[in-house]
Amino acid sequence: MPSASKRPRTLIVTIDGPGGVGKSTVAKLLARELSVMYLDTGATYRALAYAALEERLSPVTDVKPLARLARRLPLHLARAEGGSLRVRLDGRDVSRDIRSERISEAAAQVSQHALVRAAMVALQRRLAKRQRVVVEGRDTGSVVFPRAPFKFFLTAAAGVRAARRQQELAKLYGTQPPLREVREQLQFRDELDRSRRVGPLVKPRGAVTIDTTRRTARQVVRAMLSHIRS
Ligand code: DC
Repeated sequence: MPSASKRPRTLIVTIDGPGGVGKSTVAKLLARELSVMYLDTGATYRALAYAALEERLSPVTDVKPLARLARRLPLHLARAEGGSLRVRLDGRDVSRDIRSERISEAAAQVSQHALVRAAMVALQRRLAKRQRVVVEGRDTGSVVFPRAPFKFFLTAAAGVRAARRQQELAKLYGTQPPLREVREQLQFRDELDRSRRVGPLVKPRGAVTIDTTRRTARQVVRAMLSHIRS
């Protein structure tokens, strides 16, 4: 790494890709290696979905109230010990609750609405403002930070993605849903992500694709660092 005085004042690295390709693990590691902030845009949609369900809004039909909620979402993201992300809503720690399957489904639904996405993109840009940041999600290199100097697009085989998501759920909740179920849910949400009209999941222009099927997170980060440093 260059010395602190030589480090550029702004640095944005975007990492996009579907669920289960290892974006979060890789983004956290890379942020730590670069000593920069980590921004998980999926967590912002999950927090919105959580707040929406608490307010008894429909994630499918209450588009205007959802967008209003997104504009005033009292969200705070911080790095917890061990590098994981702490998500606070109005001061309450919801880091674990927002990872449930119920919230996964609601987050996929709220993120379909153009009005909601506009508010969320503004929120994500505010969170990253004047920061050096590794940001991950579905549209971070295409919509949120289209001018980012370093963009990556991660892919992996469907079976591997499902197994990773299954492990993540087991770690969080101690129970392991059947692989077939996890795979179907991933497939369904992929379809939603790829087919929406605003901010769909695409490989951003200028992004480097990395297939993580047979690579460990550390190997992926090493490949990213060598690209960034070159
Ligand atoms: O990455 P994740 O599973 O935590 O994302 C949760 C949901 O949010 C997922 O359904 C896709 C959506 N999302 C999005 O639409 N745009 C982003 N930049 C990040 C996530």
